[in-house]
Amino acid sequence: MAQPFTKLTTATATATAIAAPSKLPPPLVTFVFLLVLCILGFYTLHHPHLSNSTSPSFTTSKLLDTFLSSSSNNTISTYLRDLTLHPHLAGTKPSLDTIQYVKSHFENLSLDTHTVKYKTLLSYPSHASLLVHFSNDSVTNLSLAEKGTGVFPSDVVQPYHAYSPSGSAHAKVVFVNYGREEDYRALEVMGVNVSGCLVLARKGESLSRGGVISVAESKGALGVLLYTEGDRLRDGVGGGVERGTVMRGIGDPLTPGWAGVEGGETLDLEDSQVLKRFPKIPSLPLSLENALIILGSLGGGFVPQFWNDSGWVNGLRVGPGPTMVNLTYQGEKKVATIQNVFAVIKGLQEPDRYVILGNHRDAWTYGAVDPNSGTAALLDIARRYASLMRSGWSPRRTIIFGSWDAEEFGMVGSTEWVEQNLVNLGAKAVAYLNVDCAVQGPGFFARATPQLDNLLIEVTKMVKDPDSRGTTIYDQWVATNELHNIQRLSGVDSDFAPFLQHAGVPSVDMYYGRDFPVYHTAFDSYEWMINHADPSFQRHVAVAGIWGLLVLHLADDSILSFNYLSYADQLKEHEEILSKMLDGSISLDPLTTAIRELAAAAKEAEDEAKILRELKTTGDTAVLKMRALNDRLMLAERGFLDSDGLQGRQWFKHLVYGPSADYESKLGFFPGIADAISQSTKLSRRDGQALIQHEMWRVARAIQRAASALRGELT
Ligand SMILES: *[C@@H]1O[C@H](CO)[C@@H](O)[C@H](O)[C@H]1NC(C)=O
Ligand SMILES: *[C@@H]1O[C@H](CO)[C@@H](O)[C@H](O)[C@H]1NC(C)=O
Ligand SMILES: *[C@@H]1O[C@H](CO)[C@@H](O)[C@H](O)[C@H]1NC(C)=O
Ligand SMILES: *[C@@H]1O[C@H](CO)[C@@H](O)[C@H](O)[C@H]1NC(C)=O
Ligand SMILES: *[C@@H]1O[C@H](CO)[C@@H](O)[C@H](O)[C@H]1NC(C)=O
Ligand SMILES: *[C@@H]1O[C@H](CO)[C@@H](O)[C@H](O)[C@H]1NC(C)=O
Ligand SMILES: *[C@@H]1O[C@H](CO)[C@@H](O)[C@H](O)[C@H]1NC(C)=O
Repeated sequence: MAQPFTKLTTATATATAIAAPSKLPPPLVTFVFLLVLCILGFYTLHHPHLSNSTSPSFTTSKLLDTFLSSSSNNTISTYLRDLTLHPHLAGTKPSLDTIQYVKSHFENLSLDTHTVKYKTLLSYPSHASLLVHFSNDSVTNLSLAEKGTGVFPSDVVQPYHAYSPSGSAHAKVVFVNYGREEDYRALEVMGVNVSGCLVLARKGESLSRGGVISVAESKGALGVLLYTEGDRLRDGVGGGVERGTVMRGIGDPLTPGWAGVEGGETLDLEDSQVLKRFPKIPSLPLSLENALIILGSLGGGFVPQFWNDSGWVNGLRVGPGPTMVNLTYQGEKKVATIQNVFAVIKGLQEPDRYVILGNHRDAWTYGAVDPNSGTAALLDIARRYASLMRSGWSPRRTIIFGSWDAEEFGMVGSTEWVEQNLVNLGAKAVAYLNVDCAVQGPGFFARATPQLDNLLIEVTKMVKDPDSRGTTIYDQWVATNELHNIQRLSGVDSDFAPFLQHAGVPSVDMYYGRDFPVYHTAFDSYEWMINHADPSFQRHVAVAGIWGLLVLHLADDSILSFNYLSYADQLKEHEEILSKMLDGSISLDPLTTAIRELAAAAKEAEDEAKILRELKTTGDTAVLKMRALNDRLMLAERGFLDSDGLQGRQWFKHLVYGPSADYESKLGFFPGIADAISQSTKLSRRDGQALIQHEMWRVARAIQRAASALRGELT
């Protein structure tokens, strides 16, 4: 179990709470109190900088309570308004204002602040057009602007796919549904071959933007038009168009695996390693409205029935043609300077252990939801921690605030930083807590590595539900059955990816609401936030509350609340799913044995933590024992890394959570095994089984490494 949590009175968030929290003792009293503690510590323990470990007087209930009661929806709304005055696409001039804003906010709070610059390859559009030739010889020059925004307000970047090659393709159009393999198979059955055609696809859940383009490319398509349907017509924002990256892999393409620092090594744009990161065919995002114009003019057979999931594609035809479209895209890939901004609160007792909370700052447009709802929450946590510090508090471990740049291009800022700091992060990072689109709508959602599940749940019990008086987020979570639905972090869709999937740092990702309709459009503005997602900013307050409490626990608890029994249980569930999928064809014994080992090591760690927590002395030995246990808890996650990484995507080192090359895989974990299973269909039975068996052994060894790190003993 996690460290016992003292029951708290639920804090009320009011405008007056901006002022110094009234529950704190006056600074002088606190100062004297701490002074006395220090002196006592010095004489009795000889190691003042390591003392105070089992006296949770300041670090537990009072600290958490003070933090909660200092929340303010007003400050958060001010930060969000300031950050979203202008669009701030990474690498552009207006983005410098937001860099400066975050930096000066941290500095004004007297936090230790710095920025880290990288030179990375980004991508911007210069010209795009879409000429539609109907069968009756009429030609329409479709407007690519977003409705209601005029023709590209000069400061909003036109809708485009970052890293699409420049080019022109003039061909018949085929509708390919979500662009999945199964969709092409259905077309093949109908006698439709997309080779030499342009494909029109809608964005679904199973395939990423880049995935749709890769598959289309492999089928011989000349170009891709991609639209997003969903709620977009309803919320009065018809005509929104979803921008996004189509780069493969993550981080700066010119510096794969190392940081793109000024004057450092960069690959040539024509290098084969660089080229394989980009699609070879041009693509453009399209509004639903424009998509319907083209779809309505296609001939050929009717769409297969299984495409009719949302009802409306019923009665449409797939083509090819007779409508022809001339897709033209001109853009440039350009080396641009990006900047991560950091604020550091140095740990008092364990400055060399890091708890990192991060959010990206760059946006496709105004970024009110994505990502600056998260930035506003981050800045408010900084404000509240700074206020705690003025009252005499310092965390036990170092807290690092990270404001990442160029996430939208493929987690570029965070990836470069993780690559640059890999050894120190590997040795010292306790956890990474990510928030991207903090508030998208109603309902709390979380993804985490499983050792953090319990802490996350405990923390939700302390934070008021923003939408339902007198209840906690936990209560609502239970009521909506989402509690047992903490998702895992195999996706590569925000800045936790480099931390977990490359560096093996235990991670969390959280948000309120999901699937917001203005995603990556010009409508993602402050107005949309106050009209649709969070009129009173109380959901922002809730996210900041959970986020800030998680960090306080991880930075201040004398023993880390990492529960590896949860991890072992989760792995057991993964194993069961895998077992069903393999249906007896392959033995899972290596996995079973390894998971049992991890469970045993986890039990021992729990027992040890319990004894240490009950220990009354705070002598050197106890302090060192706690530190040793914490290190093992921290390092166990690194065991899941494998230096060889995933086959064909060696940068991804985590063998439990990471992206599978086969997006059709139903696993969602053990990406190496998932890939082996899909590859095995192309091999002889014997070779296929050998491949799966090998990947299974790799995962089993990874789990054993985690168990052995947790035990901390050599064989
Ligand atoms: C920081 O303080 C300066 C001086 O008072 C002020 O001009 C600036 O706007 C502040 N920055 C932020 C982000 O509030
Ligand atoms: C040609 O066909 C398109 C699509 O069906 C239609 O919108 C347009 O009005 C037609 N033009 C003429 C001149 O008939
Ligand atoms: C299509 O419209 C765009 C924007 O209005 C314009 O720049 C372009 O010249 C037009 N192309 C043709 C062939 O009419
Ligand atoms: C589609 O057409 C291309 C070019 O004619 C051909 O190479 C390919 O084999 C065809 N694909 C299928 C599935 O028939
Ligand atoms: C398509 O789906 C809609 C709503 O789900 C349903 O009413 C309709 O009958 C379906 N059409 C076909 C051909 O299955
Ligand atoms: C396609 O459109 C572009 C831009 O309007 C034009 O330069 C090109 O010649 C057109 N291609 C064809 C085959 O019509
Ligand atoms: C803060 O919350 C209170 C209570 O819900 C509300 O009256 C106030 O308008 C909110 N402030 C902002 C800026 O939304």
